[in-house]
Amino acid sequence: MAIRNIIQNGDPTLRKKSFEVTDFGEKTHQLLDDMKDTLILADGAGLAAPQVGVLRRIFIVSAEGKYYECINPKIVKTSGEQIGEEGCLSVRGKFGTVKRPMKVTVKAQDRFGKPFTVNASGFLARAFCHENDHLDGILYIDKATNVGDC
Ligand code: CO
Repeated sequence: MAIRNIIQNGDPTLRKKSFEVTDFGEKTHQLLDDMKDTLILADGAGLAAPQVGVLRRIFIVSAEGKYYECINPKIVKTSGEQIGEEGCLSVRGKFGTVKRPMKVTVKAQDRFGKPFTVNASGFLARAFCHENDHLDGILYIDKATNVGDC
């Protein structure tokens, strides 16, 4: 395991679309393990592979005592809305107000390629939406109604 460098806003990699994952072997497992260590050290709620410079459709979410590894995720259903503050490990020192769905259903694959579905609401739903956007080169500051300094 290793800590990976989290790239910052302004790096063009953050604006690229990530590619589907077809490798569910050692290389992907290593990436996931490194991302987890990196997220814990950074004390964040989620991290997407492009944030560590890897353009693959992978993100992890760690919040409310739960931990998810999502590979090739798709948000298949949303309902309601919530308005709240968000930050990002790639946009250090800032926060912003973003409107997100209150509930989401995410379909993804685990590290072995096995499909699963997760229903989330509130903060977890927000985290899934935020991380999923990273896979399409979207940052929360693109959607925020205001961005301030922490
Ligand atoms: Co982020």
